[in-house]
Amino acid sequence: FTDRVIAPSLLAADFSRVGEEVSRAIHAGADWMHMDVMDGHFVDNISFGPAMIQTVHESNDIFLDVHLMISRPDHYLERFISAGSDLITVHVEAEHDVAETLRRIREAGCQAGLALNPATPFSEVVPFLGEIDLLLCMTVVPGFGGQAFMPEVLEKISAATAFRQTNGLRYHVEVDGGIDATTAARCYSAGANVMVAGSSTFRAADMAAAITAIRTA
Ligand code: DX5
Ligand code: ZN
Repeated sequence: FTDRVIAPSLLAADFSRVGEEVSRAIHAGADWMHMDVMDGHFVDNISFGPAMIQTVHESNDIFLDVHLMISRPDHYLERFISAGSDLITVHVEAEHDVAETLRRIREAGCQAGLALNPATPFSEVVPFLGEIDLLLCMTVVPGFGGQAFMPEVLEKISAATAFRQTNGLRYHVEVDGGIDATTAARCYSAGANVMVAGSSTFRAADMAAAITAIRTA
């Protein structure tokens, strides 16, 4: 849980050629593909659903890190599992029995992630930290790519890594929103190890150089 993982966010890719964009990310050194699912209800935007995950799964071997920004993750879970997700992250703020959803994800053989928004205190996720493979600390208010990193979240990242150490737990700490080489360096220092990056990777002139810069920040 200290290895650096770089997960480009498909939301920033050119949707007219998704297959080529995923290959481009893989060749540029992506470790995971981050896939942002938005329902127009939990967040003020609509992106894509299980069909997109399935398409990417069928044409590539890359680890699929699926971030569900939807109000009822419990209702859609089976569809995201059978689409080929490797890790499914649900929000603690969504309308579901969080412990039960995490249990179902793991029972299906997927890794389970739990996300919290910048305004949500760390204490809200504490009851579930023994049941997850990844904690996602949002570093922007979710809904859109291209927003500015919120440095006030760094404190929560430090708390999450300190809590893991103190309690002998095992989960990745992922950050998502406004990540580039500069903000990644601050997140690594606070203890995060999985960097989601949309604009700074897919929209870079040289994607491989951008990923390397984030990895070695
Ligand atoms: C925000 C999404 C992010 C987004 C990140 O709601 O969860 O994954 O794609 O985009 P950038 O890296 O451009 O901030
Ligand atoms: Zn995301």
